Amino acid sequence: MKGFITIEGCDGVGKTYQTAKLKEYCEKTNQNVVFTREPGGSKVAEKIRNIILDSENDTMCDKCEAFLYASARIQHLNDIVIPALKEGKTVICDRFVDSSYVYQGLGRGLGYEDVKALNDIAVGEYMPEYTFFLELTPELAFERKGGNDVKDRLEICDKDFYKKVYDGYHMLIDSYPERFVVIDAKGSKTETHEKIVSEMKKRGIIK
Ligand code: TYD
Repeated sequence: MKGFITIEGCDGVGKTYQTAKLKEYCEKTNQNVVFTREPGGSKVAEKIRNIILDSENDTMCDKCEAFLYASARIQHLNDIVIPALKEGKTVICDRFVDSSYVYQGLGRGLGYEDVKALNDIAVGEYMPEYTFFLELTPELAFERKGGNDVKDRLEICDKDFYKKVYDGYHMLIDSYPERFVVIDAKGSKTETHEKIVSEMKKRGIIK
């Protein structure tokens, strides 16, 4: 869908920081952009997010998790993304359906096809026009996360899981090269920010 942009990457790549920096840039330069995030992003969707990420919910089965992400997605599209796009705004969303393909489909092993089928119902025609992928291997991402000692339910996963997630993203990048924009996130935070801004300008997403 034109004007719908998503940002993806493995945990620890600095995606949250980069999204905040980009938002700051867009505010300073008066861009017609709405920033949002998944899971969550609106009242009901944030409640679903809290259920998914609560470390006390350690008996949640993988399919339940996948359906909850899809439910939060439908609600968030309905409340935030679709109205903003209809008003002619650009929407930049921190994580979207690709996270479900790789985390639930490949990481949890539910299978890409099944998770895609489930999410096709949630997403309909609202597939992103462009998806910016912050490229950093899970090894480097783990090093960056080194200082964090508070972990949610998902971050307690093992390294094999993140390898599957990383490989899953690369499978998607190879399958949808026209949608994915790969940003090398190995450099400094400022370098990565500048790359994102420049690639967005090139595509007319921001001015
Ligand atoms: P969050 O704290 O937002 O992490 P980040 O800053 O890395 O985006 O937590 C989101 C977590 O949810 C993250 O580990 C990825 C996971 N996730 C899925 O497993 N499936 C999904 O569909 C989405 C949107 C996120």
